[in-house]
Amino acid sequence: MKGIILHGGSGTRLRPLTYTDVKQLLPLAGKPVSEYALNALIELGIKDINIVLGDIGAEEVKSYYGKGDKWGINISYTFQGKPAGIAQAVGLTREFVKDDDFIVVLGDNYFHSGFFQLLKDFRKEEMDAYVALTKVPDPEKYGIAEIQDGRIVRMVEKPKEPKSNLAVTGVYFLRKSIFPIIDSLKPSWRGELEITDAFQKMIEAGMKVGYSIITGWWKDTGTPGEFLRCNMMALERIPVKETKLNDQSVYWRAQIEDEVSIDRDSKIVGPCFIGSGSVIENSYIGPYTSIGKNCRIKDSHIENSVIMDTVSTDLNFSSIIRESLVGPSSEIRSLRNNEKFLRIIIGRDSKIEV
Ligand code: TTP
Repeated sequence: MKGIILHGGSGTRLRPLTYTDVKQLLPLAGKPVSEYALNALIELGIKDINIVLGDIGAEEVKSYYGKGDKWGINISYTFQGKPAGIAQAVGLTREFVKDDDFIVVLGDNYFHSGFFQLLKDFRKEEMDAYVALTKVPDPEKYGIAEIQDGRIVRMVEKPKEPKSNLAVTGVYFLRKSIFPIIDSLKPSWRGELEITDAFQKMIEAGMKVGYSIITGWWKDTGTPGEFLRCNMMALERIPVKETKLNDQSVYWRAQIEDEVSIDRDSKIVGPCFIGSGSVIENSYIGPYTSIGKNCRIKDSHIENSVIMDTVSTDLNFSSIIRESLVGPSSEIRSLRNNEKFLRIIIGRDSKIEV
């Protein structure tokens, strides 16, 4: 079995971060989102993984994952460039797939549980395609499956009048039988080859498309709010322990990497992650916060936020940063005493003075 992780797409809902950075490499608890998918594939024993690259940050993805040596696997790359749809991206991998069965994972989806049971069901039933479905409150935003008598009878992308609330999540178990189907697809109204259209055609052709309904362990990171919720979920999985640092104890779920300096005037409340080389001075890092590598956090109060690498904040305790995504190498500082909260979504190299 082979694995494919998609790193294309435009990520419009996470702009401005995605103007400069690949959304699949944005960090959850200090680790790129797509590395959670990679680990799930490795847990299944998959050794050959192909990463499909888009037109944003392809070189960054290659330099992070390399040839896969760090994980003891083989990683190769396929270039998609401009986003022309998930099905188009999958269609580009047929040289890599050859005759094997394979799993496709969307690199911006967060999974915190393995794929063992799904794989077992896919193989047992000799399916052409097998998908994981989950109940969602807003089905008009997703690819939706209609079920009758335990079988998927129809799949529709973002239906205006949804007939069910079962969304197709970002993991698909497939065989090479999907490639001729992809070849026969026409672009949708948004100009993309849709994977749900491929599944729909497979159903119409009498091919076996199976499903499982999963709960709780899948989430799309596509918007700032969803990204923060995934960060929470990832931080919740840090083991509970006591961490001693510079005479102060950090209790509960806290992962603090090497060479972090935290002074005695600071308070760190888990669940949180602090990346190597960061310096925390006279600050409060509240729950559900990830601080990247080599950050400098001074006189600041931060809660429920993702602060990416090499960010500096110096806030004079005038404002609380909350529910924020702060892109790499940004700088936030306060010039006077303002009593307020800051909720900010800023991309790389931004500068904010309040
Ligand atoms: P989406 O989140 O559906 O699309 P997007 O990345 O363009 O984001 P937005 O809607 O905010 O503009 O994509 C789901 C996943 O599939 C994501 O990991 C990107 C990947 N993808 C590709 O690799 N190639 C593509 O052509 C498309 C459309 C998506």
